Amino acid sequence: MTTHRPTPRRALLAVAATAATMALCGAARAGEVEVLHYWTSGSEAKAAAALKSMLQAKGHTWRDFAVAGGGGDSAMTVLKSRVVSGNAPAAGQIKGPSLQEWAAEGVLASIDDVAKAEKWDSLLPKQIADVMKYKGSYVAAPLNVHRVNWLYANPEVLKKAGAKLPANWDEFFTTAEALKKAGVIPLAHGGQNWQDFTIFESVALGLGGVDFYRKALVQLDAATLNGPTMEKVLTTFRRIKGYTDKNAPGRDWNLATGMVVKGEAGMQLMGDWAKGEFMAAGKQPGKDFVCTAAPGSAGAFTFNVDSLAMFKVKGDDKVKAQKDLAAAVMSPQFQEAFNINKGSIPVRMNMDLSKFDDCAKASAKDFAASAQAGTLVPSIAHGMAVPASVEGAIKDVVSQFWNNDRMTPKEAMSRLAAAAKSS
Ligand code: GAL
Repeated sequence: MTTHRPTPRRALLAVAATAATMALCGAARAGEVEVLHYWTSGSEAKAAAALKSMLQAKGHTWRDFAVAGGGGDSAMTVLKSRVVSGNAPAAGQIKGPSLQEWAAEGVLASIDDVAKAEKWDSLLPKQIADVMKYKGSYVAAPLNVHRVNWLYANPEVLKKAGAKLPANWDEFFTTAEALKKAGVIPLAHGGQNWQDFTIFESVALGLGGVDFYRKALVQLDAATLNGPTMEKVLTTFRRIKGYTDKNAPGRDWNLATGMVVKGEAGMQLMGDWAKGEFMAAGKQPGKDFVCTAAPGSAGAFTFNVDSLAMFKVKGDDKVKAQKDLAAAVMSPQFQEAFNINKGSIPVRMNMDLSKFDDCAKASAKDFAASAQAGTLVPSIAHGMAVPASVEGAIKDVVSQFWNNDRMTPKEAMSRLAAAAKSS
């Protein structure tokens, strides 16, 4: 696989140039825009900086409210308490079905005027445009399309262990065993419930297939949650744990990525925000690291779309700043600069991807192909498939099963079915 080294610096320069022109037309009405998010890893902060510089060049004040904690649970807790106490930020990183729940509370603002002026309906896949709308009105701006069902590996480490990049779960365990024999940590993992859940959903997709994934983890069908395929998924999921290290519990995802970067571990199962970290470390896809679909899931795509929900704010200057934020998010310049650093691909269609790396190009190709083939599924672990409370309940059962070796797959299945009914 040939490598094309994108230059975030050139992308950021393009952003600054665009922002400069925007500054000329709107300085008088500058306002403050506070954004609450959980993009705190190196590559994520770099990606968010693109938005900051666009808003600042327009004369607006960017107030960064970053809440550490991958997966976003802490950020959502903080956001809830701020909104309840009447101190909502201008924008918050809220995704998927949760947007409907927040909008139903009456706290989100319509940005339909921006969406119409910027023609979002013709620039977004309908499935994603609909996620951003409440009762037909846009209340959030989408930033990207992350793919979750990836496996990353260090080719040097694999080679030394005489192991190959696995295409299915049987091969995964053969490779993991070879890495273990070679004295390397086979799978870098961070023992946090959302990371456990991220692996679980890839096993479900890779072992059960798209229909099974949809029935179990989108439609939450009780018989499927309690069925023989789920038992196989849970058994395989538990077997993976044996190839992680004893220091995994509590580890942040980007530190796990760092282990593969440094060759301390051979592989990581994670969404392509991990790729952002490889790139930020100056690593080249195909040479220093390889990206492939999580075992057994080639041809399928679990999507996770980050979006900024717009909260109702007071004051013309704040409203103007918020609308400029929304417009900036969907601009081609930002879609390029943000996603080259973030590891995801632009959500805006028909973008020129020539500055993107080969893993991103593969993701874009697979995204289009899976949308065509009907194998595009929402990530349950990253808030795209079910309401937040149900996601949380299922996530906890999956993580308890991962951490408690005495829980049997049968017990976990009945708890999953119960969690799926929780609201
Ligand atoms: C996801 C989020 C990504 C990334 C990841 C790790 O839920 O959508 O943007 O931040 O968590 O924190």
